[in-house]
Amino acid sequence: MGNRKNLYIHTIGCQMNHYDTEQMAKRLAPVGYDITPFLERADLIITNTCSVREKAEQKVYSFLGRLVEMKAEKPDLIIGVSGCVAQQEGAAILKRVPKLDLVLGTHAIARLPGNIQRLEKQRSPIVDVEVSTTIDDFVASADPVQADHVTAFVTVMRGCDNYCTYCIVPYVRGREMSRPAEKIVDEIRILVASGVREVTLLGQNVNSYGKKEGLCTFHDLLALLNDVDGLWRIRFTTSHPKDLSDDLIQCFGHLGKLCHHIHLPVQSGSNRILKLMNRKYTREQYFEKVDKLRRTCPDIAITSDIIVGFPGETPADFQETLDLIKAIEYDSLFMFRYSDRPHTPASGFSGTVSSQAQKERFDALLALQEQLTVKKHRALVGLTLPVLTEGWSKRQHETGTDEHPSTVQWTGRTSTHRVVNFVRDPSPAHPETLRGKMVDVKIRRAFPHSLEGISADVCPDWGPGGEEANVT
Ligand code: 5AD
Ligand code: SF4
Repeated sequence: MGNRKNLYIHTIGCQMNHYDTEQMAKRLAPVGYDITPFLERADLIITNTCSVREKAEQKVYSFLGRLVEMKAEKPDLIIGVSGCVAQQEGAAILKRVPKLDLVLGTHAIARLPGNIQRLEKQRSPIVDVEVSTTIDDFVASADPVQADHVTAFVTVMRGCDNYCTYCIVPYVRGREMSRPAEKIVDEIRILVASGVREVTLLGQNVNSYGKKEGLCTFHDLLALLNDVDGLWRIRFTTSHPKDLSDDLIQCFGHLGKLCHHIHLPVQSGSNRILKLMNRKYTREQYFEKVDKLRRTCPDIAITSDIIVGFPGETPADFQETLDLIKAIEYDSLFMFRYSDRPHTPASGFSGTVSSQAQKERFDALLALQEQLTVKKHRALVGLTLPVLTEGWSKRQHETGTDEHPSTVQWTGRTSTHRVVNFVRDPSPAHPETLRGKMVDVKIRRAFPHSLEGISADVCPDWGPGGEEANVT
C-alpha cells in the first residue's frame, strides 16, 4: 500500500451533502486515496458545498481561500469543490478561486475518480457540472458505504420540482429522481450486516418518492424496509406538507420500526406569506395534517423549519407564525433568517425586511421555542424510554483510569429523536459496550437540547414491537 495518498473532505450543509461525501470517499479508495482527519497531510482536498443560504456560501469561500494559501506552499496538492455551489457557479468559481483544480457538480459524483486520475496526469482545471436527465447515473452513484456507525443515511430520491420561491435547491440539485426500491433495500441490507441498526431515508421531498418513475409509493417502500431483518429503526426526512398522504400518516400507526418523529417544515404561519412562498398549502390544511398525525400516533415528535423576514412579511404575518408555533408546540425548530438566493423568484420580490427586524423576529422565535422544548423535555422526567446507544458521550474519571473509567456516560436517541445521555446504575462489574444496543433509560433531568438518565437494563434481543412495550 506504499502509494496510497491522503484525502480530506470538508463538508458544509445538509445530510444529503454528508451522504455524498461518503460516496465520494468510497469512490476514491480504489484509485488510491484514504481519508485523513488532518488537513495538512492531504494530497487531495474536496470542499463539499451548500448554497441554500448566503452564510453557508460565505463559509465555502473562506475555506477555499485557506486552501489556495496551502497550495502556494504545496504545489502538488489537488483542490476541488463539489456540491451546490459548484453546480451553481460552474466555471465562474475558477475566476474567483484561482488554483482550483476541479469543479464537480451535484450529478457528477460517479465521474470523480476519472477526473482525479486525469488531474494526476495533467494539471489543467476540470469543470464537470453536467446534469443528468436519466436515473441511471444516480443509481450508479449511490453504492452501499460500509458503515462503522449504528445509524446511517440512505438517499432514496434527489432533486426537487417544487420551486418554493425562496429556494435554490431545484436549480442546483435538478429535477426529482428516485432510486428503485430494490437498490435501496440492497444498500440497507449491507449496512445492517455491518452493524447499522437505524437508517434515515433522505430526499428533498420523500413523499413524492417513485411518483415520476411509476415505482412503488413511499409508504410501500417503508413497508418493505419494515421487513428487513436486523434493522430496528427507520426515519425519513424531509416531507413537504402538501404531499403528506393519509397512507403515509397511517404508517406511524402500524409500522413497528418507523420512529415516532416527523420533520414537517411549515416555513410560515401566514397564508399570505405561504402563498408568496409557493408552498401550496394553507395554515388550516397544515393544522389538519398535524391533527391526523397526532390522532394516529399520540407521542409523535413534530419538528419544523421556519423562515423569518421573507420579503413582505409584516409584524402581523410574523404574529401568525408565533401563534401557529404556540398552537402546535413543536418538539424542536430550525429557524432561518430569509436570505436572497440567485435564480430564485423571491430575490426579485419587493418588501425587503430590514436586518434589524429579521433579528428581532428570529430572537422572539428562539425564545418561544426554547420555552416549549424545555416544557416538553420536563414532561419526560421520570419516564423510562428505549434509547438506541450510539457511543460514549464522555468518560468520567473519578477513580478509574483511561482504559477503565469509573463511570462511562453513553449517548443515544429516543424514537422521537431526542438525545439522551446516560450512565449505568449499578455500574457493571465487567467492562461492557452498549454501542448498538437498545437500552431502557430512566430520564432524570431535562435540558434544552438533551435529556439525562440512568439505565438498569439492556433490552435483551430487542426487536420490533419491543419499543412500545417498554415505554412506561
Ligand atoms: N433563506 C432562508 N432559509 C432558507 N431555506 C431554504 N432557502 C432559504 C433561503 N433562501 C430554509 C428552509 C428549508 C431549509 C432547509 O432551509 O426553511 O426548509
Ligand atoms: Fe426547496 Fe421547497 Fe424543494 Fe424544499 S420543497 S427543497 S424548500 S423548493
